[in-house]
Amino acid sequence: MNSKKGSILKNMTKDLVVEKNTQNEIVDNRSFALRVENLSKIYDSAAGRVVALDNVSFSIKKGEFVSVVGPSGSGKSTVLNMVGALDRPTSGKIYIDGIDIFSLNDSEIATLRNRRIGFIFQSFNLINRTSVHKNVKLPGIIAGMSSDDANLRAMKILEALDIADKKNQKPINLSGGQQQRVAIARSLINNPSIILADEPTGNLDTKTGEDVFDMLKMLSHKFKRTIIMVTHNPELAESTDRSILLRDGRIEKDVFN
Ligand SMILES: Nc1ncnc2c1ncn2[C@@H]1O[C@H](COP(=O)(O)OP(=O)(O)OP(=O)(O)O)[C@@H](O)[C@H]1O
Ligand SMILES: [Mg+2]
Repeated sequence: MNSKKGSILKNMTKDLVVEKNTQNEIVDNRSFALRVENLSKIYDSAAGRVVALDNVSFSIKKGEFVSVVGPSGSGKSTVLNMVGALDRPTSGKIYIDGIDIFSLNDSEIATLRNRRIGFIFQSFNLINRTSVHKNVKLPGIIAGMSSDDANLRAMKILEALDIADKKNQKPINLSGGQQQRVAIARSLINNPSIILADEPTGNLDTKTGEDVFDMLKMLSHKFKRTIIMVTHNPELAESTDRSILLRDGRIEKDVFN
């Protein structure tokens, strides 16, 4: 094979990981929203060495709603931070839509994060000095949407999530549940492949938490979003499609609910 042809083939197959699924059919990783392979994260600090993740592997299909559960310190946030490319693993690989994300340079990673990943945090992480509407449209502008498109799309999402009447308010003046709905709206602006939610109901009372959860479930089932949600609430976890239980940085259980 000449070298040009070889390199084209290499590029085409670079992100292709073939494996057998549970039905023993050959599949490639492009049918997965996410593949995590032998992921380890070791924190080395003056305080000592912590193995936060120890050789973790799992795949998530497009449209799956997966909960990540486990005791405090088991590595839940660490795994989400790696998948969201907020931090680099010590070893292992992560493929999002078949792209080996840590083979990219920092600016490519930032673009991938902005376009393909939606984040929802326990503490909402909204910009309080600007309006709800601007909070939602900002990641769209960063991704290169025109201001008109971003305005329109932000309004449509706010309407779909039933929070459009608060569009001119500052997030700080909203209830926790309303702020989390704004954060969900923001996570959707760039039509991400994966939504990562780290204890999205952790700061909310039970009823409000259930409402926020129902909204994520609706996004998953009606709009076929891929969602990974960390939670300490066993009832919410059981209401997702699948639960991954972490303990001491390893997968102890991975069950379909
Ligand atoms: N930046 C860091 N430096 C050193 N150790 C860290 C760092 N971040 C996390 N760790 C350690 O890694 C381990 C996993 O932390 P992680 O935040 O992923 O846990 P978690 O499962 O999300 O816990 P929680 O339920 O309390 O949020 C813990 O032992 C934690 O102390
Ligand atoms: Mg955590």
